[in-house]
Amino acid sequence: MSLILGIESSCDETAAALVTSDRRILAHRLAGQEEAHRPYGGVVPEIAARAHVEILPALIESVLAEAGVELDEVDAIAATAGPGLIGGVMVALLAGKGLSLSTGKPLIAVNHLEGHALSPRLVDPDLALPYLLLLASGGHCQLLEVRGVGDYRRLATTIDDAAGEAFDKAAKLLGLPYPGGPAIEELAQGGNPKAVPLPRPLIGSGEPHFSFAGLKSAVQRAVAAGKHEPADIAASFQQAMVDCMVDRTSLALEHSEAPTLVVAGGVAANRALRTALAELAKASGRAFSVPPGWLCTDNAAMIAWAGAERFAAGLVDGLDAPARARWPLDEAAEKVRGAGVKA
Ligand code: KG4
Ligand code: ZN
Repeated sequence: MSLILGIESSCDETAAALVTSDRRILAHRLAGQEEAHRPYGGVVPEIAARAHVEILPALIESVLAEAGVELDEVDAIAATAGPGLIGGVMVALLAGKGLSLSTGKPLIAVNHLEGHALSPRLVDPDLALPYLLLLASGGHCQLLEVRGVGDYRRLATTIDDAAGEAFDKAAKLLGLPYPGGPAIEELAQGGNPKAVPLPRPLIGSGEPHFSFAGLKSAVQRAVAAGKHEPADIAASFQQAMVDCMVDRTSLALEHSEAPTLVVAGGVAANRALRTALAELAKASGRAFSVPPGWLCTDNAAMIAWAGAERFAAGLVDGLDAPARARWPLDEAAEKVRGAGVKA
């Protein structure tokens, strides 16, 4: 059994957690910065990085205190090393390096996307590799075959916006606060998902990828037309997003032998998406796994867990590990048309 300290600060959540290799979450805490970023309608990288610097040390102290653990009882220190906002990534990584240097414990430089990708295994001991993963977050929307720790094959990615980015942009058009996903989900509860006709980009296409930009533009036109209730626009948009993700995942399942369908990343907190994907898995004879909502959105328990999986595989890093703004899980995946920054 090993004990891993996880540190995360690649976007707007500052987080620390203590997790064991036998799946016990001894403590996990996070400090969001929604208030600081809300006036700008999105995350301001400079504000985020400065806040991480101020918050992270006390957060690490507080998880150690909550778990009743001394720093030198930790077996390894797992810190997010990318991808993400580079200023924030540097805070977690350098904090991890400092702790590694002072304790002599190994550093594990974790890919934030691998944190999301492996997070379901922290709470689902029966979830065996390989599995087909829909990773839908604020910065990404990908279908990946998770074959092993550090072994990923990308089947599809977005050619324009990420899934969470689409939720955030649609929310902004509706005058809802950041982050948009939970706000849209709440408003959609009182709306009719069939009220507003919206496109489903790429549905039915043999091309494996995602596209959400056209959907966002259609929301913009629906808002401007002023004919529909905001709740109906929210419900119709959420349904269109779900339909797109289900269709693309269904196509990927046709090209994958993986026995289990998994969804992770912030957008996986969406209940309409979870329900629709559970039905898709059932219809295609696959098992289904999704982490609880708190483990879908950014947190440090998933970073500690990815660290535990890497540590068990003997994968540790040197103190020269780089901070990376871009870091694809499948380095061999081809770039796709239009997907410049999101591949
Ligand atoms: O994984 P995450 O916390 O951070 C990144 O790594 O990007 O994902 C954040 C994204 C945001 O775009 C947020 O609007 C979206 O996940 N999100 C949701 C929900 N909760 C968070 N989208 C739809 N429905 C939700 N309930
Ligand atoms: Zn994330």
